[in-house]
Amino acid sequence: VKEPFRSEFIRHLHAGAGAKDIHDAIESDEFRSGSALNAQYVAREVERVAAHQRSLCRTLERRVGKVDTILDVGCSTGGTTVALALSKTLDARAVLGIDPNAVSLEAAPARARAYEVEDRARFQHVPPGPLPFADAAFDLVVSVSVLEFITHASDRESFVSELQRVTRPGGFVYLSTPSPLRLRELHSRRILGDFRKRDNMPWATPSWEIKRMLADCTEVPLGADIVAAAVERVGLDRPPRLPAPLLALLPRMARWQKMLFQRR
Ligand SMILES: C[S@@+](CC[C@H](N)C(=O)[O-])C[C@H]1O[C@@H](n2cnc3c(N)ncnc32)[C@H](O)[C@@H]1O
Repeated sequence: VKEPFRSEFIRHLHAGAGAKDIHDAIESDEFRSGSALNAQYVAREVERVAAHQRSLCRTLERRVGKVDTILDVGCSTGGTTVALALSKTLDARAVLGIDPNAVSLEAAPARARAYEVEDRARFQHVPPGPLPFADAAFDLVVSVSVLEFITHASDRESFVSELQRVTRPGGFVYLSTPSPLRLRELHSRRILGDFRKRDNMPWATPSWEIKRMLADCTEVPLGADIVAAAVERVGLDRPPRLPAPLLALLPRMARWQKMLFQRR
């Protein structure tokens, strides 16, 4: 990450960028323990683009390919937006990152300048609610680690329906959100936190609910991609042969549900 933009980005983190994920929480997120701004947190924020290139972009490059316009909903400090703008395979002309948190969003342009994608990656402050874009305005709509922070179930329904509305027919919606099939909620570490819902606490939506909300879309199975990524991580030469039902189940069992849909 190039200087002087790296230092500028870190200054924004110290001013509170990236520190609030639940929009309707009053001050900072209640579920974060102690000071979030330790060296590990800063390093993870700085390295976020590389992490998204390895996982998010790789899947989209394999399954979606070349696009013209991308909307990144809940972009925070722009890690996902910049990773998407850097992809030569997606080759997007314009990637727009939007977020309701103005403080986080202020850090995003510094990140884009650090990677020299400021001509393609743009950012806009958009409050929660209906998206200020026309129907079918984007080829690809991405939302990574946002759904779990929308506290009320009815707001989640409208959020997902807006993602679908602004995607063109034949275009794609990609969602990544933690799996509820675990003992502790992923962000807050509360035991069975995905089922003991409380205000201002994240909780995960099950995959079948997400599928129901995207009624105008067809799911693109990602089981094979998840196996390929795991095989690469452990350094195996080639993926094991798995029966189709297990391949279909794998994306549901992982820590993060990664779901890709094509609008009919
Ligand atoms: C963990 S961050 C996601 C960061 C980014 N997508 C990434 O993966 O690097 C969650 C973001 O969701 C945003 N958010 C919360 N509620 C939202 C809503 N209703 N609409 C859009 N974004 C929302 C928060 O402001 C926060 O910046």
